[in-house]
Amino acid sequence: MRQALIIGNWKMNGNLAENDELLNTISKSYDSNDEIEVVVCPPSIYMAQISQQLLNSKIKYGAQNVSANRNGAFTGEVSTAMLHDLGCSYVLLGHSERRCLNHESDEQIADKFSAAVQAEITPVLCVGETLTQRQSKETFLVIAEQISIIIEEVGIKGFEHAVIAYEPIWAIGTGETASPEQAQAVHAQIRRQLAEHDLNISKNIQVIYGGSVNADNAKALFAQQDVDGALVGGSSLNADDFLNICKAYN
Ligand code: PGA
Repeated sequence: MRQALIIGNWKMNGNLAENDELLNTISKSYDSNDEIEVVVCPPSIYMAQISQQLLNSKIKYGAQNVSANRNGAFTGEVSTAMLHDLGCSYVLLGHSERRCLNHESDEQIADKFSAAVQAEITPVLCVGETLTQRQSKETFLVIAEQISIIIEEVGIKGFEHAVIAYEPIWAIGTGETASPEQAQAVHAQIRRQLAEHDLNISKNIQVIYGGSVNADNAKALFAQQDVDGALVGGSSLNADDFLNICKAYN
């Protein structure tokens, strides 16, 4: 049985006071709930604050990006060892905003994935198609390629402790969500691809959906057999909205 996983991607939002308030509210009502694993991904500069605030909490925290390099002359970068040092247990990789705005290639994402696996930080690999690719019926192909390159570089075992987030680019921050059926079809396809390499990994890996998830659409998405949770952007910045998404899982 796969555990449900809800990840809040705060993106470049928040400040000390807002983070404090948001986390206080979330952890107060969440901590008694064992069913769902909850992770928040603040901007890295706030990781120390979040690590202190979540010291006795079951809520975990992750980074939104990491360097593939161990250490050294990489101005502005953060290493896996630094994240580990602060108790960070997840890292988002290959988010479309990083692929598009920072021109991250599949190869760079694979290097980061490898670095995360080695540091025992769970990589959350984000994959997804553009609207044009969906309209040209290339969705499965695009996603299969985004996953294949990681399998080639890191090996299928790299997915043993990884998460995959299906995030159609046309649904991110747009208010438009993939239908539950569209999400299910892609999630099932992802599992089929992994099953060609390792049946256990394909059965056990958490595949979560992201793209305009909110309290209203979460329940129908979570009802799908292969949707194990959500990667939530905008709605993770409001405690009530985020908690309502978590509740929708039950
Ligand atoms: P959204 O973002 O929920 O605001 O669409 C999701 C994401 O980018 O991870």
